[in-house]
Parts: sequence; C-alpha cells; structure tokens
Amino acid sequence: MGWKDFSACASLLVLAFFLSALTGSYADLAYSVAEETRIATVVGNIVKDMGMDSKTMSARKVRLDTEESGKRYFDINPNTGDLVVSQVVDREALCGSRSSCALNYELVLENPLELHGLVVHILDVNDNAPQFATDEIKLEIRESAGKGTVFLLSEAHDADVGTNAVQRYSLQRNEHFALRVSTNADGIKYGELVLEKELDREQQRDMSLHLTASDGGSPPRSSSVTIHVNVLDANDNVPVFGLPVYKIGLPENSPLGTPVVTVSAADADEGVNGKVTYEFSRISDAAARSFSLDRNTGEVRVAGLIDYEEEAHYEIGIQAKDGLGLASNAKVIVDITDVNDNAPVIVVKSMSNSIPENAPPGTEVAIIHVHDKDAGGNKQVRCSIQETSSFKLIPSIKKYYSIVTSQELDREIASGYNITVTATDEGTPPLSSSMTIHVSVSDVNDNPPVFEEQSYSAYVSENNKPGSSVCSVTARDPDWRQNGTVFYSLLPSEVSGAPVSSFLSINGDTGVIHAVRSFDYEKFRSLKVQVVARDNGSPPLSSNVTVSIFISDENDNSPQILYPAPAGNTFMTEMVPKAALSGSLVSKVIAVDADSGQNAWLSYQIIKSTDPGLFTVGLHSGEIRALRDISESDSMKQNLVISVKDNGQTPLSATCTVSLLISDNLAEVPDLKDVSYEENNSKLTSYLIIALVSVSTFFLTFLILVLAVRFCRRRKPRLLFDGAVAIPSAYFPPNYAEVEGAGTLRSSYNYDTYLTTGSRTSDFKFVTSYNDNTLPADDTMKNCPKGTGDSVAISDNGSRFSTLVICCLL
Ligand SMILES: *[C@@H]1O[C@H](CO)[C@@H](O)[C@H](O)[C@H]1NC(C)=O
Ligand SMILES: *[C@@H]1O[C@H](CO)[C@@H](O)[C@H](O)[C@H]1NC(C)=O
Ligand SMILES: *[C@@H]1O[C@H](CO)[C@@H](O)[C@H](O)[C@H]1NC(C)=O
Repeated sequence: MGWKDFSACASLLVLAFFLSALTGSYADLAYSVAEETRIATVVGNIVKDMGMDSKTMSARKVRLDTEESGKRYFDINPNTGDLVVSQVVDREALCGSRSSCALNYELVLENPLELHGLVVHILDVNDNAPQFATDEIKLEIRESAGKGTVFLLSEAHDADVGTNAVQRYSLQRNEHFALRVSTNADGIKYGELVLEKELDREQQRDMSLHLTASDGGSPPRSSSVTIHVNVLDANDNVPVFGLPVYKIGLPENSPLGTPVVTVSAADADEGVNGKVTYEFSRISDAAARSFSLDRNTGEVRVAGLIDYEEEAHYEIGIQAKDGLGLASNAKVIVDITDVNDNAPVIVVKSMSNSIPENAPPGTEVAIIHVHDKDAGGNKQVRCSIQETSSFKLIPSIKKYYSIVTSQELDREIASGYNITVTATDEGTPPLSSSMTIHVSVSDVNDNPPVFEEQSYSAYVSENNKPGSSVCSVTARDPDWRQNGTVFYSLLPSEVSGAPVSSFLSINGDTGVIHAVRSFDYEKFRSLKVQVVARDNGSPPLSSNVTVSIFISDENDNSPQILYPAPAGNTFMTEMVPKAALSGSLVSKVIAVDADSGQNAWLSYQIIKSTDPGLFTVGLHSGEIRALRDISESDSMKQNLVISVKDNGQTPLSATCTVSLLISDNLAEVPDLKDVSYEENNSKLTSYLIIALVSVSTFFLTFLILVLAVRFCRRRKPRLLFDGAVAIPSAYFPPNYAEVEGAGTLRSSYNYDTYLTTGSRTSDFKFVTSYNDNTLPADDTMKNCPKGTGDSVAISDNGSRFSTLVICCLL
C-alpha cells in the first residue's frame, strides 16, 4: 500500500469518526468479527441493539447498504434482525497490512426513513506464516573478513499484522555467526549476521545456516530459509613445498633438456592466490648456466654443460610464489656423479733428448706424470710402454713414472726409439691416451773400421807409370760422423831395405793405393804392405789389413848372352875338329833373360854365317851342331851371327858372334888377337890414367885451397871442415848396377812426385823429385853402368850439403 492510499484511508477514518459524532444520536452500530469466519455465522442482532421489536423492523424494511458496490460479506436476516456472515472475509485481502480493518455499511430503515451507520471491524487471525522472499539467501564472504562484520539478511514477511506478524528470528547454531535482530523504522524486524569467528576458506569453503522467522500468533507460525555462505578466498596461504630439500644425483654430461627434478609447492588458496610460480632464488653463476627452471611447472632441466670435473655439487634455492606474492623457499641439491669422460693426461716432466749408446741399463730417459681428472675408479690409471725390449717403466712416487733403459743400447742397430706411453683408466668403458717420446741414441766410438775383405791383392805390371793407382781398399765404420769417418794410411815397414812409402802411397780418404815409383819385376816380384784404417774418434779405433801387390812381368829385358861373351870382352874362339861329323855338337850359345815366362823363353837363330849350310843352332837349346860332315874344303875360320830372341809380345833380341875354327891343332890358328879389343883396352887404360890424374889434381888443388883458407882465417878452422867438405862415405862397386840389367841404361828422368791430395794423414813426406835410379829419397846415389868404367860417388848424408857426384863415363 502506498503512502497516498494510506493517507486517503486515514482521512476517511477521521471523516467516519466525525460523522459518527454528528450522528451519535442515531446509535450507530459497531460489530467485530474475526476474519475467515464461516458463512451464516451470526455477528450480532440489530433489532436488539437498536431497541426495536422484530415486527417493527420487518415493517420498516431494514436493509444494509454499502457505499461501494462489490462484496457485501454481511447480510441482515429480515426476520430476526441477525447480522450474519454472507461471505468469508480475508482481512489480508481486504486491508493488507493495515493494522485496523473495518467494513462500513449504512443501515436503512423506511417508514420513516432512517439512516444508521454500521461498522464491522474485521479482526486479524494468524492465518499466515512468515514468508521469506527467496528460498535461499546467498552470502559471499571473504575469508579475510574481520570479527564483528555484519551482514544484513533479507527480512521475512508475514501478511498478518500485529502480533501475528514476524516477531522472532532464530539462527541455527554455528561457530562463526551470531544473529542480531533489529527493527526498522516501520517496525519490521530483520536479522543481521554478525561474524564472531573468522572464516577460513581452506577449512570450509561454504556453509549453510538455517534462519527461522516466527510470528507471535498462537500457535505461532514460522518458516525458515537457508543462508548459504560462500567463503571467498583471501591470499592467506603461502605456497608450501613438498620437501624442504630436494636431493638429486645427476650423471655428468647429461644432455640438454634432461629433466632433473620437479619441485612442487602447494598453495591452499585458489585462483590467482593459489597460482604458484617458481623461480631461482639463490643460484650460482655456474648453476645458472647449467640448469633451467620452468616457472609454471617447477621442472628443473639441464640447460648447459654438466661437468663433474668443474662442479660436482650444486645447491640451488628455488622460490615458489603465488599470484599475490606470498613466497616460500626450498633447496635443490644436485650431486653430479662422475662419468668416465676424461682420458688420462700424460705430461713429460723431464726428458733427455739423447742418451749415449753405452749408457748402463737403468739410465733414466724421461720422467712422466699421468693424471686423470675423473673421480673414483675412473681416476685410477694404469701406464705402460710398448718398447719393453729396451726400456722399462718404473712407477715412482705418486703418479710419476720414470722410463729407464733396460739394456745397453746400440746406436748402430737403432739410432732412436719412439717410446709410446699408454695410460688407461679403469672406467667402463676405459679411456686411454698415449704419447710418443722420441729418444735418440748418441754415438760412442765403439766400432773399429772393418775392411771389406780379409786381405787384398793386386796385380800391377812393371814399368808402371809412377802415380798410377794400384788398387783400393775400403773399410766401413758404422759409427756416427767423425767416429765413423775412416782414414787410411800405410803402416811403416821396409821393402828391400827402403821404407814402403817410397813404393806406395795411399789416399787417406779414398783408400786408393798409388804406386809412387815404377816397379821392376826383375827387382822384386811382390810386396806386402799393411794398410791401417783409423776412425776419427777419440780415442780412435783402427784395424789393419794386408795388401799384397804382385808385380807382373813385362818384356823389358833383352836376352843376355852369357856365352860366348860379347864381342871384345873375351877372346872367344871355339875349336871344331876337322873330323866332326854331321850332327855333332860344336858349341852352345848360352843366353839368359831377366824376364820370366814367355818373356824369358829364348829362341836361337843363325842370322848370318860364313857357310850357311854347315852349322845349325838348336831353336831353344842354343846348341850349335854341324849340319853335315866337315870337309877339307870348308874354310877354316867360320863365323856365325846368332840372334837370341825372347818370346815376349814385342820380342827383344840380342846377337852374338860365334867364331869357329876348324882345326885340330891350336898352332894352326893364324891370328887370334883381336886388334880392336886391344886398342879399346889401351884406350881405356889411358883414359883411366887421365881421369885419375885429373881427379888427383882437382883434389890436391882443393886441399891447397882449403888449407889456404884455413891459414888465412884461423879463427874458424873447425867450421870449415865441419861443413864444407864431405868425405865419400860409400863406394858403390860397379856391380851394383847389375840390378838394372846389363847395359840397359835407360834415360833418367825426373817427375813431380805424385802426392795424395786432400789427405790429412798422408804418411809420407813431401819429396821434390825422384830419379829413376834412386832408391831412397834421402840417400842420393849415382851409379855408373857396368863395363863402361868406374864410378865414384862422393856423398854425405844429404841433409845439409849438396852432393858432389863424379861419374866417369867412357
Ligand atoms: C719415430 O717417429 C718419427 C715420426 O713420428 C719417424 O720419422 C721415425 O722414423 C720414428 N723412429 C723410429 C725409430 O721408429
Ligand atoms: C764420438 O764418440 C765419442 C765417444 O767415444 C762421443 O763423445 C762423441 O760425441 C761421438 N761423436 C759423434 C759425432 O757422435
Ligand atoms: C793389425 O791387426 C792385428 C789384428 O787384426 C793386430 O794384432 C795387430 O796389432 C795390428 N797391427 C797394428 C800395427 O796395428
């Protein structure tokens, strides 16, 4: 009911009271009846109340009039005058919430017309229960709401009025809320929830309370409603990790992306308040490089290289935070487990680059150090070398090893070794590494030069050119450089009384042996010389070898006729008996040849004879025999010219004349003297005399001169004799020249001595010249050919003075 309606009603009521006051004298009638009274219920008796009798009333046609048409609710029984309920009255429908409800009627009487007011007051009956507007009251209360917070509840409505309206509210017992009932300005009671104990969404996210509203009727009516309290979340819970410390083992070298651990924190709150994100709160740089964290799932993954050798232990702080920033921390400990990923490392700590080959076994060559960065068994290293024949690996302190020789080395067999050191760890699978150390063996002069042959022999023809090479020797020395450099020399010895160096020389570098002079087979046929090969070490080592040189013959000697003696020397006439028969031996030519072999194989031939048919000479025997019987007619004096020829390549020959006298009696010989010989002889004698006289004169003059000088300069007499004069020290008899061959005086010639060049060890001295007829270089000798005169040689030892040689030749 609106305020306007209400005021209109009020003014009508006031008017009714005013009218009733005016018409009070008409004994206005008022009745009360409870609503909902059944039809035909008598409310009152008008006849009685107006003081009339029933006859009068029926005569006067009593009736009720209402101002407004519509429901009448009441009627008057015309016979009895009773006011009866004609229709059930619902006060709530008629008057709503107005506290008084009355129906106004006019009682009309006719004959005479009279009007009386009649009021029926409708009394309230508790026929309505309190009613809540909704079945359910929904409340949303944040759990953070404080104690004493008031929450207004919607009131209950009861159509009844007065005490039949809502009088009480009651709330189901609970631990959080109390009920406070208040009355508003309209007098309507309403309830309020007062928070007595804080809510916790996490304990109870909603609750239902029954609120009952009761009216004051009798019996009272009530109805209840459910208050549904939904506890709204407040961020009152921190995220809580499942574990305070997560401890994980992780093998090193885990690939990128490998999940390590998932941390998880629970937040009892909901929505944004319970949305947990994760982040590193405390992390080292190394760990930050190695791990990543999914901020939503809390999963820690490998994000970088995990190397046990660099970092074996990580401690990472992780913070979990909810949407509004409440946070808590947990710790992740990652222990990296070792994987055998590091091969052992070999380091050479010291080493000698070369060791002498005579180093005793056990000589230290190198010190190595082996280590492995891994841990545990992966760190245990075994070490070995391959060259076990010559070297040993000896473990030393800690991880040090020394490599020593296990035997003597020989540079000539192996000049260097590559020692491969292998280190293997005990991981699975094992890793190994190796390193090669080069050790060179330095030389020691432990090998003497060795000649390629046990002995050498060479053949050289006589009359060779001086300086020509005869043969060569070679010696090898396997040592290194100067220890293996070989020099050759001749061992000093004597050949036929002369030093061997006057016959042979050797090139110290090449070992080529040269003839120093021309050899003569007829003087010696072979010579032996020791050649020494010496290396350049210190001390040097040497060996020697015998070189035999055989001189081979050349046909350089003409046959020499011994018999008959060459013309002029002897009186040679062979007597042939007149009775000599054919074939009888008459004479024999005897010839020799200094050469040998074919070169000395002589053949005889008559090249001229007085009577060519009379004599013959044996081709090889030289026997002269009669070819036929000698007759009287044959000339008494027979001359044969016989040629003796050797069998050389270019044959040489000599001739002789054999004089034969066919006679039985020496007396018959007419003239046997050879005039020319006599002449020659006397000539020779006279020349000899002249020569002797000249020499004597010269000598005397010389003596006088010396004496004179001595006389003049007395002061130095000794010096003069000491130095200037040399007494002949040797006289070489003429037959000395025999060696050279009878009468085969060849032209002497000088030549420059062949010198071995480049030899530092050449063992013969510088010689200015050789004369073909000279034997030793330091003894000058001259000789005269046999048969042509005497020779006088005056010489001293040749070292300080020139030699005076007087040679007499015819
Ligand atoms: C050692 O190794 C080097 C190269 O690595 C090689 O030239 C040499 O011949 C080797 N020496 C030996 C004795 O094996
Ligand atoms: C030669 O051997 C000696 C030891 O006998 C040694 O000292 C020297 O170094 C060696 N020379 C060379 C070039 O090897
Ligand atoms: C020559 O060698 C032999 C052994 O080969 C040795 O006995 C001799 O002494 C050596 N002679 C010289 C002069 O070195």
